[in-house]
Amino acid sequence: MTSRDILEMLAATGGGPVYAEARTVADRFFGRGVYVRGVVEFSNHCRKNCHYCGLRVANTGLERFRLEPEGILAAAALARELGAGTVVLQSGEDLRYDRRVIGDLVRRIRDTLDVAVTLSLGDFDRDTYAYWRDCGADRYLLKMETFDEALHARLRPGCTVADRLARVEMLQSLGYETGSGIIVGLPGMTDAILAEDIHRLSQLGLEMIAAGPFIPHPSTPLAAPVDHAIEKSLLVTAVLRLLNPGANIPATSALDALAADGRTRGLDAGANVVMPSVTPDAVRGGYSIYPGKNAAGRDVRDAVHGLFERLRNAGYTPVADKGFSRIAGACG
Ligand code: 5AD
Ligand code: SF4
Repeated sequence: MTSRDILEMLAATGGGPVYAEARTVADRFFGRGVYVRGVVEFSNHCRKNCHYCGLRVANTGLERFRLEPEGILAAAALARELGAGTVVLQSGEDLRYDRRVIGDLVRRIRDTLDVAVTLSLGDFDRDTYAYWRDCGADRYLLKMETFDEALHARLRPGCTVADRLARVEMLQSLGYETGSGIIVGLPGMTDAILAEDIHRLSQLGLEMIAAGPFIPHPSTPLAAPVDHAIEKSLLVTAVLRLLNPGANIPATSALDALAADGRTRGLDAGANVVMPSVTPDAVRGGYSIYPGKNAAGRDVRDAVHGLFERLRNAGYTPVADKGFSRIAGACG
């Protein structure tokens, strides 16, 4: 499919038939099972200043937190107990944790919990990525956000598409199952840009691909309200499934922030992964990338059990499998 073909699919009104076709493909590769990844958001400090994100360094109104290794391990153990087959360690780009501390966490989680470990920590050098891989990290998530040079440079000050892409390819060459993705509906993103983003993402041979809707955050330069990108995100998810049949594709949490049934609609459009936060209640609300993320006041157990119930009611089964992708050549 060329980006022109993709553009035509995006322009089609009513995603129904595309969702159904995408779901059929997902069923063929994954059945009705949904891989569960527990996300431990261990620090909301970030040195970057992405215009769309509530964790950006210029947001001085945000109370910042860092979890100690013991707290991170406890959250990882809770993820396992609740039925996650993968633990994702995620943070803003925080240089305060020595790489050996992260490596140690990876080793201890792998050794004690029988889970796959995914890292989602942002831009580091090859040496560091290689070190964490040696410590046993299975996967790394690094989102392109958009491949459009001008939009990327504008919304991610000091960053370029070429640099980010080089890091994604570096992760692949180090043997990580590599995930990337885009934000759908960023201010300035046209359908032509979006089609090209889908096209380029699909050419990378990624094991994981995510596309979540943009949600304006009031304490960022992109605070102005936008038309909700939920339908567009679902359509993008479906097209990604058709182009990447065996890839792991999450029903992003951002879908749930826009609609109570957002994540099950993501599954209906071809997604096969959910990534609930298992960050301790005391700090969970502080990981506020966008409004509605990690709704405060909800206990982790309740939130995860509630999610599972919604999945089951929609005809899916949460599975505690490590959940490696089914793309050709992938192992596990
Ligand atoms: N709306 C939706 N997704 C966002 N992200 C960051 N800010 C927003 C927002 N306002 C996503 C990006 C980033 C991840 C941490 O969250 O894709 O990689
Ligand atoms: Fe930092 Fe990631 Fe937010 Fe950018 S999107 S400000 S890198 S946490």
